[in-house]
Amino acid sequence: AAVPARASLSMGAVGADDFVPDMQRRTIMNLVLLGGAGVPVLWLAGGYIYFLVPPGGGGGGAGVTARDALGADVMAAKWIAANPYPGRALVEGLKGDAHYLIVKEDKTLYDFAINAVCTHLGCVVPFNRAQLKYICPCHGSQYDFNGKVIRGPAPLSLALAHVNDVDGKVVLSPWTETDFRTDLAPWWK
Ligand code: FES
Repeated sequence: AAVPARASLSMGAVGADDFVPDMQRRTIMNLVLLGGAGVPVLWLAGGYIYFLVPPGGGGGGAGVTARDALGADVMAAKWIAANPYPGRALVEGLKGDAHYLIVKEDKTLYDFAINAVCTHLGCVVPFNRAQLKYICPCHGSQYDFNGKVIRGPAPLSLALAHVNDVDGKVVLSPWTETDFRTDLAPWWK
């Protein structure tokens, strides 16, 4: 009678291991977090096409206009009004990754955005307002309010991007300078 019990225990362990997120899961989580439950199917299709076929000439140091869950350009004033301090909402930014725009108490944006993709296995990391840190739901990694890693298994801090207001639009561009949180060269270049 003991043998079947052991068998079912090990089945359970296999199930838990299956939860390692892969690229597909990460993409799905991006979409879910960006768009909530009511994302139109067309936007999903657009997102995949955007991901697979990046716009031409966008390489190197070029910036991209942040996009909201519906794929529209993010306008700074509107975004700040809709996501007041201490809100940290996600936009689609460089490489199609989800990025947090950070609204300050004085109703302006920080000049850097935080890439929400966990440096462990790529889950999108939610911001915990009560604890003022990012806590990954997949394996428990934690990052402080600036995205600096404070608990593994994540090996590295969340990536940074520059935030600029260009004619009222929020534009993200690659952060190639020293990471101000660690005083190291950026690992994500
Ligand atoms: S993906 Fe493993 S801790 Fe975030």
